[in-house]
Amino acid sequence: MQQMIANVTLLAAGLSAALLTGCASTGGSSCCGSTSEGTIMKEPFGKTLDGQAVDIYTLRNTNGVEARIMTYGGTLVSLKVPDKSGNFGDVVLGCDSVPDYQKQTAYFGALIGRYGNRIAKGQFVLDGKTYHLDINNPPNSLHGGTNGYDKVIWAAKPVPTDSGPSLEMTYVSKDGEEGYPGTLKIKAVYKLTEDNSLRIEFTATTDKDTVVNLTGHTYWNLAGKGNILDHVVMINADKFTPVDETLIPTGVLQPVDGTPFDFRTPTAVGARIEQVNEQIKFGKGYDHNWVLNKETDKLDVAASLYDPTTGRMLQVLTTSPGVQFYSGNFLDGTVTGKGGWVYQFRNGLCFEPQHFPDSPNQPNFPSTELKPGEKHHNIIEYKFSVK
Ligand code: BGC
Repeated sequence: MQQMIANVTLLAAGLSAALLTGCASTGGSSCCGSTSEGTIMKEPFGKTLDGQAVDIYTLRNTNGVEARIMTYGGTLVSLKVPDKSGNFGDVVLGCDSVPDYQKQTAYFGALIGRYGNRIAKGQFVLDGKTYHLDINNPPNSLHGGTNGYDKVIWAAKPVPTDSGPSLEMTYVSKDGEEGYPGTLKIKAVYKLTEDNSLRIEFTATTDKDTVVNLTGHTYWNLAGKGNILDHVVMINADKFTPVDETLIPTGVLQPVDGTPFDFRTPTAVGARIEQVNEQIKFGKGYDHNWVLNKETDKLDVAASLYDPTTGRMLQVLTTSPGVQFYSGNFLDGTVTGKGGWVYQFRNGLCFEPQHFPDSPNQPNFPSTELKPGEKHHNIIEYKFSVK
């Protein structure tokens, strides 16, 4: 059981000192006086295998929605939202301890960088120079390499806002880290709002030309148990990017019409996932990038997810041009997650709003290059409701 710290940090916009006195803690479960803006509380969350201290922050809005984020990997550890009967349940997959997070390779809930998804053969050319990355998913580099941003400890501080508890996380990725050029200064701000949305806003700057693709890797299961085959998915995309057998895009933007990749009309994940289809075979299910029907940089709906058993509905909004929909095909019963749940095949699914995979090697994809003086910007918003 985690120990509560005595000096509870409770910060919210315009919060008066008087409200702080309304904050209390009990046994192993947190309890804070609520305010019109919600609360943030900080606790220790144990140590990494090499002894580094990890903190966890609990953000709660006045509806009782609660997000817990730890400094290791900037990871969303749990997210409790109501179902149609008002019962709160955790809708994200994860682990019970920091060492358990360190041992798994599924990227549960983590912030991903420097480059989300795969870069072919772990190399790319920028300004005439070839860069070699860590090949952690042979023959490719995946999610920034073996020691990507999911494996580092982020600095964190609650920041005042006028629209909900907010946690600013920062990380400085050194020039040459995992093979990427340029020192990248990254800020990821989590905010929980009163309309039951959890938002992550990424910004990043560099001191040398580089490539950047930052995203979040939360696995959703809106029922909090079982597989996600009956979850109903909508993806706002007329096209997707087919891949080769190593999951690198071929470069083609293929219309979804008449394929199992057409989620413009909400459809159960399991309805077509076993169809005989080369792309489904390569991904062992869905593990592809969709080309969103929206203007890049405009915050708009990328996808939605609905669980008919609980009535929970998730809308995913982003400013990014693409979304990777991954149906948890590499979950195989080897990881025991939170509360002893052994994660089996397709027990969770991810929507990763981002630039397209392998963009540094794909001239016809939107560019992921970032130059000194420019700012990388990506917003992801997870918006919950019931129906
Ligand atoms: C990728 C999968 C990969 C998974 C890691 C997803 O973003 O598309 O291919 O296995 O991350 O858990």
